[in-house]
Amino acid sequence: MVPLGLIVALSLIAVAAPHSVAKREVQPEGYQETIIFLKKQTDFGQSVFIRGGVGNGTNCAPNESPKDDPCAIPITHIELDISAETTIRDEWAESDLYLTWGESRDEQDSVMDGTPAQWTSWDESNNDYFHPLNTYGDDYWIVHFEMNCSMLENGFFDFKGFLDGQWETDISQSDCAGNGAETPSYTSINHIARCGYINVFEWGNPDCTINAF
Ligand SMILES: *[C@@H]1O[C@H](CO)[C@@H](O)[C@H](O)[C@H]1NC(C)=O
Ligand SMILES: *[C@@H]1O[C@H](CO)[C@@H](O)[C@H](O)[C@H]1NC(C)=O
Repeated sequence: MVPLGLIVALSLIAVAAPHSVAKREVQPEGYQETIIFLKKQTDFGQSVFIRGGVGNGTNCAPNESPKDDPCAIPITHIELDISAETTIRDEWAESDLYLTWGESRDEQDSVMDGTPAQWTSWDESNNDYFHPLNTYGDDYWIVHFEMNCSMLENGFFDFKGFLDGQWETDISQSDCAGNGAETPSYTSINHIARCGYINVFEWGNPDCTINAF
């Protein structure tokens, strides 16, 4: 039996590090709510991550601490609006403080494959994984965070999916659909997303949709 005092102490520790937050009306200076939906069919038990950062990956230092990597972008995950329990993803999200091109590390230096995404569905009627902003289909993995958009030139950042140690293939992104679409100021072999918007992509596919919240 675990003494009651220990349980209280442990739960206090857990509460003391709120790296994932409920959606806030006012974000820290420069931060904006941002969503990536990335469509990828997976097998049960697989977990999709994303890796990315400032610009198209040139001059990044993904093996350095994020504070020494000019491409690492500070993020705070927002609690997911789905009814399913996603304990492991939530723990990863709590510890994941930067979008980078390398592994993600928490403050205890344990390693994750990247920034964690969560499988969602658009089927409201029979699915715990229904997400109200998923109007696109099943198999849309979501990453929902506040990101410091002030760090970005013109508000764009790049990313790729990462699954079972494998990078998503290179693409040459098309002009995006959607009311938030804008032409990036640079070219890339990655998905180019817009900070402060809902960005919708498919794995290995150049098409994209960018909508305002
Ligand atoms: C966001 O980034 C800008 C530009 O680098 C910086 O001035 C600002 O302090 C950052 N915001 C926070 C809350 O750290
Ligand atoms: C990355 O962007 C730089 C300019 O910002 C450009 O010179 C370079 O060709 C781009 N790389 C790719 C792969 O598009």
